[in-house]
Amino acid sequence: MAGFDAIKQQQQVWAAGDFAVIGWNLVYPGELLCEAVELRGGHELLDVATGAGNAALSAARRNCDATGIDYVPGLIERASARAAAEGLPVRFEVGDCEQLPFADESFDRVLSVFGSIFAPDQEKAAQELIRVCRSGGKIGMANWTLDGFWGHAFALIARYVAPPESLRSPLEWGTETRLKALFGETKSLTKISKRSALFRYRDNAHWIDVFTTCFGPVMNVLAKLDEKRSKEFLRNLDDTLTRFNVSGDGTLMVSADYLEVVIDK
Ligand SMILES: C[S@@+](CC[C@H](N)C(=O)[O-])C[C@H]1O[C@@H](n2cnc3c(N)ncnc32)[C@H](O)[C@@H]1O
Repeated sequence: MAGFDAIKQQQQVWAAGDFAVIGWNLVYPGELLCEAVELRGGHELLDVATGAGNAALSAARRNCDATGIDYVPGLIERASARAAAEGLPVRFEVGDCEQLPFADESFDRVLSVFGSIFAPDQEKAAQELIRVCRSGGKIGMANWTLDGFWGHAFALIARYVAPPESLRSPLEWGTETRLKALFGETKSLTKISKRSALFRYRDNAHWIDVFTTCFGPVMNVLAKLDEKRSKEFLRNLDDTLTRFNVSGDGTLMVSADYLEVVIDK
């Protein structure tokens, strides 16, 4: 466990930059997931690794009693400010998705949108999602896939700054095999849908400008490379953007595949 704790310390890349700006791209997958888990007014819902609060806010707008949790205090502050701006009664707390500070069976719905997948101890993170969900409730996840844009982008990042050897890839959550291992046999995996999230920017340079100033995982790589290697990394990133651009015009619209997963408990 000490190893995982140390990794988690290093992994606080999400505190760098301004993830809230990147999170604008994830509003729609969060909205879709709220529909997929069949929310009802009055449901108690937990959004795990909520970031700046996207899915918790979406659930609160559907009259759920929503709570969001994330281990970056600055993001929890941003989430609270967004809730206040909309007058939404959402509870936001700082906490670790591997040790959720809630009793067993506390929530009707438990969501994680590209969140718990980043926990170093994948088994623990999955067990925690299951533990806090009520029997008869649903767990909903959005998980990037290995062969989609983020699979390629994270593989590129790992080529320049190697992750600790003991760490399993977060992209494994985007495979049916790993989901079965983490959540049990097919029967409990109610529904898996292939979806794509679209990231719209003016062009590649615009994306690179935003992600090199706001997105911790990219900022972390650049901070560790010399000028030559940084330029090479950015060239490779630029090529990856071009490869996944589906705009069909001069703008950038990256199509990023993910699995939307709904598990009945
Ligand atoms: C890609 S972001 C997604 C944020 C949010 N769910 C959204 O849709 O905008 C990943 C989030 O996971 C959070 N995170 C990563 N590891 C975590 C952990 N062990 N416990 C709690 N939050 C964690 C990060 O702080 C970050 O906010």
